[in-house]
Amino acid sequence: MPTTVLLTPAARLRGEVTVPGDKSISHRALVLATMARGRSRIEGRARGADQDSMVGALRALGAGVSEDGDVTGVEGVELTGLRSPAADIDCGNSGATMRFLAGALAGIEGVSATLIGDSSLSRRPMDRVAGPLRRMGAEVETWANGMPPLRVSGRHLRGVEHRLEVASAQVKTAILLAALNAEGETSVVAPPSRDHTERMLRRLGVDIEIGGTIRLRPPDHLPAFEMSVPGDPSSAAFWVVLAAAHPDAELVVRNVCLNPSRAGFLAVLGRMGAAVEMFDTREVGGEAVADILVRSASLTATDVDAEEVPAVVDEVPVLAVAAASAQGESRFRGLGELRVKEVDRLAAIAAGLGRMGVAVELSGDDMLVRGGAPIRGADLGSGGDHRMAMSLAIAATLAHEPSRLDGGDAADVSYPGFFQQLDALTGSR
Ligand code: S3P
Repeated sequence: MPTTVLLTPAARLRGEVTVPGDKSISHRALVLATMARGRSRIEGRARGADQDSMVGALRALGAGVSEDGDVTGVEGVELTGLRSPAADIDCGNSGATMRFLAGALAGIEGVSATLIGDSSLSRRPMDRVAGPLRRMGAEVETWANGMPPLRVSGRHLRGVEHRLEVASAQVKTAILLAALNAEGETSVVAPPSRDHTERMLRRLGVDIEIGGTIRLRPPDHLPAFEMSVPGDPSSAAFWVVLAAAHPDAELVVRNVCLNPSRAGFLAVLGRMGAAVEMFDTREVGGEAVADILVRSASLTATDVDAEEVPAVVDEVPVLAVAAASAQGESRFRGLGELRVKEVDRLAAIAAGLGRMGVAVELSGDDMLVRGGAPIRGADLGSGGDHRMAMSLAIAATLAHEPSRLDGGDAADVSYPGFFQQLDALTGSR
């Protein structure tokens, strides 16, 4: 049942929040642990519906996944040990689950699975993974227009050179997972996108070259591993924007992964004049992590060019909220990928902020946000998209009147407990 959340503007923001484990890294850790030899231990992984989809899918494919508090144990089945599931695998809302599993299954001969999703995932493009996997020899069928369901039948794969037009870490990861079971070297030439898969494979001793061209030579097996998952920068971004744009705020956000392919929002906010300080920088799970202190500042508009988008792709909705609070016109260019997320996020930002009296103009895949006018309270809807739910909640907390948000429960996809943390920081309830 979709939940309606009442949101009141916050007079003052104080406190600290520890963000949950990174969703992207957690998905990869679960898949790689399943494909490894022996028992892996993952500490502090993300929670939420997307993770539940991945765990459910891996169990259906034969993995033993157990939970003990904050620690997940995974009994690996080895590189070719996934088995055909008894029924269709429901990937829920999770594009990463569907795309990663397509890659993991593609090279396991004799195994086949049908991957289905909810109404949002069923409208997302899967031809971007099906095409490259077919080129390696896999049998992958999609529904009409290259959309789910996705039926994958494992075949003998050959490593090939892929040249990707789209900056998609999910596609890159699907290819690299398939490459683990391919004959010979696989290479991927692609625009930069988050590089957690490459980093994790390298830490597991896989022969992989990282950079503009990625080259992977298949290992004999993947070793089991132990890792702690750093905090999710995409979740941290909500709090950082809230504190930066609020007139009376001082927040500490702990455990934020600073991987350069993810932390672009900090650079954008820095240009806008946000008062952000990093401290206690350390390494967690092979990634740099820090605690972040954010104080109120008066923000000014900035431009985000197409080349910068992959490093902020999930943070554009909340950066648009920052832009709405900033003096001047902010321009974001080359946002086409936002149109194929859980909803068309470009349209959703324009509609949601528009209802709050913020002028947002879309021109093709570019967006202009006219900032500085008061943000008005409004009746809002998440459209079932977790990042829209949380971004609009941040806008509502910065607004001048109360708002109502339908479908606030969508936040549970990546951030269960988000609204309780918001209440704790704003001192409401
Ligand atoms: C993700 C990659 C991005 C991102 C998504 C998670 C990942 O998607 O939007 O939330 O974990 O690899 P695309 O690869 O489709 O851009």
